Amino acid sequence: MLSGKARKAGVLGWPVAHSRSPRLHGFWLARHGIDGAYLPLPVRPEHFAEAVRALARLGFAGANVTIPHKEAAYALCDAVDAVGRRAGSVNTLFFGEDGRIEGTSTDGYGFLESIREQAPGWQATDGPALILGAGGAVRSVAAALLDAGCPRLILANRTPARAEALARDLGGPVEVTDSPRLDGLALLVNGTSLGMEGEPPLEIDLAPLPPTAVVADMVYVPLETPLLAQARARGLRAVDGLGMLLHQARPGFEQWFGVAPVVDAELRAFVAADLLR
Ligand SMILES: NC(=O)c1ccc[n+]([C@@H]2O[C@H](COP(=O)([O-])OP(=O)(O)OC[C@H]3O[C@@H](n4cnc5c(N)ncnc54)[C@H](OP(=O)(O)O)[C@@H]3O)[C@@H](O)[C@H]2O)c1
Repeated sequence: MLSGKARKAGVLGWPVAHSRSPRLHGFWLARHGIDGAYLPLPVRPEHFAEAVRALARLGFAGANVTIPHKEAAYALCDAVDAVGRRAGSVNTLFFGEDGRIEGTSTDGYGFLESIREQAPGWQATDGPALILGAGGAVRSVAAALLDAGCPRLILANRTPARAEALARDLGGPVEVTDSPRLDGLALLVNGTSLGMEGEPPLEIDLAPLPPTAVVADMVYVPLETPLLAQARARGLRAVDGLGMLLHQARPGFEQWFGVAPVVDAELRAFVAADLLR
């Protein structure tokens, strides 16, 4: 039941039907009895800028941005915070009453929060991290790992030039390799789309990883990827991509709707049920 004062937010994407964000934010809105709505907003790339400006003028508090709009959103913002600047893209927008648009990237934050939840005791300072992939999501995660004190970050990507460009943008203790070694790692991250439903699995032998290593997958369909199954079978701590999806949503929800939401088993089960369909 919305009143005339209802707070409004949504997710812009093209297409957007696959997005789980309306279900996720809708769960929190209902849990907290908030007078507000979070809508799926399908917007073609050529209409993106016009649509965002219109939302800001229509009294929306803000929006999430998903594929393929994250870079366009970055370019459109009046201000982007340090994390978003480092990632070169934004996934969360905040609108001022004067139509001002501010942006940030919460994927890296969501990733770190998810590891802290699913592998308690892990810290970015524990040791070297290897990330497979160099796409948009990896940009945000790599920046977050470095900001949290990761002492050595190794990037490996099918297209090495993309990893090299990211390493240059990031600065700090970052290196690029085409033959990644797993011994001595504190963290291994799959940031590619390999292992996703309909894609080939990630071919990797986890045997050389130390028993203390954490293996994290950004893929969340399926929830248990072959990579995570192999990690668990070896007794390693495994972190799925759903946690990242749930946690990246928290900062936006809090600012738009005025309540700090929590990620718990009930929310997880509610969103996971939708992934199984
Ligand atoms: N859990 C979450 O909340 C969350 C959020 C965002 C994204 N994700 C997931 O993170 C992954 C990356 O997303 P993104 O937005 O960063 O996508 P992206 O920008 O399109 O990057 C895709 C990455 O996967 C690599 N890749 C694709 N197919 C490959 C193959 N056959 N062999 C080797 N590498 C391959 C690409 O390598 P090239 O550079 O060589 O093309 C690139 O590094 C996806 O699985 C996505 O579902 C999860």
